[in-house]
Amino acid sequence: MRLYADRTFCIDTENAFKIGPHIETVEHESGTVIKLNLGEPDFSVPTHIKDEIKRQLDLDNTHYCDPKGLLTLRVAISKQISETRGLEVDPERVVVFPGGKPPIGLAQQVYCGPGDEVIYPSPGFPIYESFVRYVGAVPVPLHLDENYNFAFTPEYLSKLITPQTKLIYLNFPSNPTGGVVSTKQLEDIAQVILDLCPEEVRVYSDEIYENIVFDDQTHSSIASIPGMESRTIIASGFSKTYAWTGGRIGYAIFPTEEEANVFKNLNINYFSCVAPYNQEGARVALESHLSEKSISNMVAKFQERRDVILKKLNNITGISCEKPGGAFYLFPNISGICVNLGIVDYYAKLSTTERAKTSPSGLFQMFALYHHNVAVLDRQSFGKIGSEDQHYIRLSIASDLQLLEDGVRHLSDAVQDYSGIDKFFETRPDLNSS
Ligand SMILES: Cc1ncc(COP(=O)(O)O)c(C=O)c1O
Repeated sequence: MRLYADRTFCIDTENAFKIGPHIETVEHESGTVIKLNLGEPDFSVPTHIKDEIKRQLDLDNTHYCDPKGLLTLRVAISKQISETRGLEVDPERVVVFPGGKPPIGLAQQVYCGPGDEVIYPSPGFPIYESFVRYVGAVPVPLHLDENYNFAFTPEYLSKLITPQTKLIYLNFPSNPTGGVVSTKQLEDIAQVILDLCPEEVRVYSDEIYENIVFDDQTHSSIASIPGMESRTIIASGFSKTYAWTGGRIGYAIFPTEEEANVFKNLNINYFSCVAPYNQEGARVALESHLSEKSISNMVAKFQERRDVILKKLNNITGISCEKPGGAFYLFPNISGICVNLGIVDYYAKLSTTERAKTSPSGLFQMFALYHHNVAVLDRQSFGKIGSEDQHYIRLSIASDLQLLEDGVRHLSDAVQDYSGIDKFFETRPDLNSS
């Protein structure tokens, strides 16, 4: 008799959380770590939203509520989608979830069976890849191209689409690259999907960073391209735009009410409903004219940090970093560092089993953490399949500028620390902590 079902080990994880015990070990042994690993804005939830949550608590709005989401919030979401995407959305097509994350995996449970193929961006939010084998489907990474602003060409997408394709994830602005796309690029992508995919294939457009775009650009959604609304799930949420990761409110707009009701039933099965006092706070976030100012202040700060940190990173030998158009991450190419510090050679000499547990950028990540007290994430934290030869790290710029500058200084020290890296190879402190 076995304890676990086979599928238990088919699901992966999100390293931004998993690296926590390593950080704790380092902090215990050698002091503070500069944490550039987590994707959460370092701002407070805007006061007008907090006030509404408090008011709702005082009204005792603390009980079970509609598993699909409060109608008041779903109406506000429909209105916002109509204003920003030019689509008329019946609130019955909207479902509220505890965060932007749950509908990602639920979508695979709903639409994909064994053998169905799931196309997802790589590097991309790790949960897309994490779920695929768990539901018995086949992962098909869509490798983003640094030389194409971390987007992809329509020709490349067309080569990945087969009769087994069932679900295609898109994520612009993107985590971890900060890549954005123009309406023209979205039109070209949509054309490929319209030409090659039957109507039942769903596009999951993860637009959680929709409000965090730089250089006066505006966000556009593939759902707004003619012919795409009936194939696209628009997903977004309140974690990033309102610096409200702990509130756990996200939502998705489904092509049909019938599909929305399938997800509502999953909500009933998994968690019944999302905290109603938070949902009313989310409604105020969408309806209040005060939100615009808080969002634009936050985005201006992110843009300022992006500019300063991008320049400093690109001054480090062995690093080259593209300018992100949105979100709050920098995703530098560290191939030069991995070669210069001998990490690529060291990695090549590891046994197959040892190699399977890490990567050159993963080794640099651990070296930077254990020897230079700075936490970043490696390339494989954003999709493992087919990424063996890609050497990148992700830095979150959701920390104040002083801390970010310190973090880059630590990275710059790590890059030149030839004796330190030899010691790291000898001792591999990362293997002693879990
Ligand atoms: C692309 C993307 N989608 C979804 C999520 C999940 O957001 P939430 O914290 O609201 O679950 C994240 C969080 O980092 C993300 O980067």
